Amino acid sequence: MILGSVIDSDINEKRIALSLDTVKKYISNGFLVQLEKDFGKNSNIDDSELQKLGAKISTKEEIYKTSDIIIKINCPNDSEISSIKEGTVLIGSFFPHLNKDKINKLLKKNIKIFSLELLPRITRAQSMDILSSQANLAGYKAVIDSVYEFNKAVPMMMTAAGTITPAKFFVIGAGVAGLQSIATAKRLGGVVSATDVRLASKEQVESLGGKFIFAESSKNLETSGGYAKEMDEEDKKKQEELLRNTIKNQDIVICTALIPGKKAPRIVTEEMVKSMKSGSVICDLAVEQGGNSAFSELGKVVVVNGVKIIGYKNFPSRISESASILFAKNILNFLEIIYDKVEKKLKIDENDEVVKAVYINKEIH
Ligand code: NAI
Repeated sequence: MILGSVIDSDINEKRIALSLDTVKKYISNGFLVQLEKDFGKNSNIDDSELQKLGAKISTKEEIYKTSDIIIKINCPNDSEISSIKEGTVLIGSFFPHLNKDKINKLLKKNIKIFSLELLPRITRAQSMDILSSQANLAGYKAVIDSVYEFNKAVPMMMTAAGTITPAKFFVIGAGVAGLQSIATAKRLGGVVSATDVRLASKEQVESLGGKFIFAESSKNLETSGGYAKEMDEEDKKKQEELLRNTIKNQDIVICTALIPGKKAPRIVTEEMVKSMKSGSVICDLAVEQGGNSAFSELGKVVVVNGVKIIGYKNFPSRISESASILFAKNILNFLEIIYDKVEKKLKIDENDEVVKAVYINKEIH
């Protein structure tokens, strides 16, 4: 069976969907692995290292024309879709509702699409959970990028020349990315507080050494799947009041709040941004879903009254070597449940709850 992967057609996407470890594993499981020239360049992997493991270096066109399984980070573009072999298995993260036309074109070619961002957040699926592996690194990188833009030291420093006070971090949304931001900011010596609408996150924030700040609500704002629900106007007001007094005293605010399938909640208002000290930093990880912060702009660092608002796109790609290693492992773990190693063929059990959740086999409207 031939398994192929190519460099992403989006030049801003630096991640790849295989690592040295997973290439080795696929080959030992009997796959013929073919990869595009310079496939591992952004992960500091030379073609010769891949060839030494037994991978074949080939052209994009040849890979699409001959592979039985294609592994990809993002949805293929139109020209890739026209090159892809009928009936191929395609695995990656394709966000079907954002890529309806492309997904429908792929389905017309009988492509079996598995989109791993649709995985259920259950224990069995954890090792395949690309959302978690990538959000974790995004949360880390958001702190690193913020500190880079911050013109002061983070930890407390007591020197003969005087004392530098520690930087204050505030993390909005304590899910996977937010918790890693808290852990990273603590490791750097920051004083960290955080908020979330899910009370369940209080213990997790505190176990990382953060202070939990919470606007009491009479409603349960957590879904049965562990995600947040959208706040009503009354709760939004309560949160706004709480944050108005909190944010003005912060040095670095990391925004990670998301509601699945909806626009990101607007939490940091213009007034809050303007209340911050000049030199403070806001990093809006939610910018691609509309942003948690006023003034944040996709792909830019905006400065308002001396406050820098970071709105970079695709944080996992900003730390692509680590992100690729984890993404590649997630895909390998998923492939192991649809591939029979003994018979060396695919076995897609559509009744398996994990397979069922990620398998796109119906036209998207
Ligand atoms: P997410 O990326 O959808 O949202 C990030 C965070 O923002 C969430 O914690 C959410 O509660 C919070 N949020 C939303 N609206 C907010 C608002 N207005 N103000 C403040 N915070 C707000 O969530 P993520 O990181 O994907 O995690 C979702 C859940 O899934 C969590 O409960 C997490 O623990 C759970 N999970 C479970 C896994 C498992 O296998 N059991 C694996 C990964 C996550």
